[in-house]
Amino acid sequence: MCLSVQIRFFITLVFLLGTFSPQAKGKLFDVLDFGAVGDARTDDSKAFLDAWRSVCEATTTSGATIPTLQVPAGKTFLLKQVKFSGPCKSATVQIQMMGNIIAPISTDWTDCKSGCWLCFDHVDNLIISGTATINGNGAVWWQKSTHEKIGDCNKPAVLYFQSCNNLRVSGLTSHNSPLNHIGISGCKDVSISKINLIAPKDSPNTDGIDIANSKELDISDSFIGTGDDCIAINGGSSNIKITRLNCGPGHGISVGSLGKDGSNDMVQEVHVRNCTFNGTQNGARIKTWAGGLGFARSISYEDIILIGAGNPIFIDQHYCPRQNCPPEKQTAVKVSDITFSKFQGTSADNIAITLNCSSIVPCTNIKMNLVNITSLNPSSKVEAICNHADGTATFTAPVVPCLSSVQDVLIRREGQTQDGDQKPQYYEL
Ligand SMILES: *[C@@H]1O[C@H](CO)[C@@H](O)[C@H](O)[C@H]1NC(C)=O
Ligand SMILES: *[C@@H]1O[C@H](CO)[C@@H](O)[C@H](O)[C@H]1NC(C)=O
Ligand SMILES: *[C@@H]1O[C@H](CO)[C@@H](O)[C@H](O)[C@H]1NC(C)=O
Ligand SMILES: *[C@@H]1O[C@H](CO)[C@@H](O)[C@H](O)[C@H]1NC(C)=O
Repeated sequence: MCLSVQIRFFITLVFLLGTFSPQAKGKLFDVLDFGAVGDARTDDSKAFLDAWRSVCEATTTSGATIPTLQVPAGKTFLLKQVKFSGPCKSATVQIQMMGNIIAPISTDWTDCKSGCWLCFDHVDNLIISGTATINGNGAVWWQKSTHEKIGDCNKPAVLYFQSCNNLRVSGLTSHNSPLNHIGISGCKDVSISKINLIAPKDSPNTDGIDIANSKELDISDSFIGTGDDCIAINGGSSNIKITRLNCGPGHGISVGSLGKDGSNDMVQEVHVRNCTFNGTQNGARIKTWAGGLGFARSISYEDIILIGAGNPIFIDQHYCPRQNCPPEKQTAVKVSDITFSKFQGTSADNIAITLNCSSIVPCTNIKMNLVNITSLNPSSKVEAICNHADGTATFTAPVVPCLSSVQDVLIRREGQTQDGDQKPQYYEL
């Protein structure tokens, strides 16, 4: 009996030693071992940076643990601006965020080099996972204008990824970002899933995810409720998939704004599926400035649920949120091959569909199919407004005057004479 206990103890000891063998431990870099305190008051920035340097310097032999920066659960780490720079020596690096992260309040913002708080630069094959809550303490920034600073710090994005290829982010929650929660710029092959991005409805510029100059993105199974766009897709971006996102409050899932100050912006292959717009100011939106160049094309929104969404479908080629709007010029960002399919639910505005395109570069091949939008207010009706757009609508309510219904197209195809006074027949739902 006694012997068997000893044997069991021995086996357990061997097992424990095996689990925590120096090699394995050597790949796990706990910020506490680098001097982090995690009491939500002490500045732990240096500890995080030191731990990151070790992670980034670590090499992997095949089959061994991925070099991992560990942020342990049950603590809250106060960080100032921290820049996690690559490239790293190991093919893959990881951050396990179980403990929470909190931003300085007000005057404690110092030593900034760029407009981000947790900045990632040229780190390829990075995996960030965990159940941490990141609190950006944004309220102090929301009262300031875009270019107003605290100390030498610009209003920061919370998580900013610059030139990070093959990035995986999952599980995190971000609260009260000073500016956008997540920024993705110059990245290829990005997967973001199961995250929550939360800020008050009236907090300015708290976009959920801002994407620019990036390709091959997959964003899924997440909740974004903020004071600005849930997701904004800017110039130079393509092959973006957004699936099962619950958006609202917020300003919707937007392509753009594109073409500001005459810039040449290109966005294509954006596909939004199975998303909900709940109490958002806009839903599926494409916004371009007058006088720009480039295009927004091959974009689809499909299987969308609307719960009292404002402007559920909105293409605006005269985007200009403030004064000094540029006049129409000879150029505009071309909007084409846009599909809105299977929309169901309620609009908070009487105008449920707005296609306000440019007279010089009109929108072409806009397709609507199985769109059924009713008013949030049962006694009101919704309608659509159209300028300089063409395409087709099938089984779409409200009727979109500038799009041909299928029946109308069939009549034209069959070469029947069209009476100018006769209104085309639309499918009514
Ligand atoms: C979208 O939702 C529909 C209906 O609930 C479902 O059949 C389909 O599998 C979903 N697709 C995705 C990509 O989630
Ligand atoms: C819509 O938003 C409201 C207010 O935030 C919330 O109470 C409700 O549960 C949401 N509905 C869905 C289906 O997410
Ligand atoms: C369409 O754009 C024009 C030009 O900016 C603007 O005057 C008009 O109010 C817009 N219409 C709608 C319905 O948004
Ligand atoms: C359109 O939506 C309304 C309100 O939800 C619903 O009563 C109606 O049955 C729907 N029509 C179709 C064709 O789905």
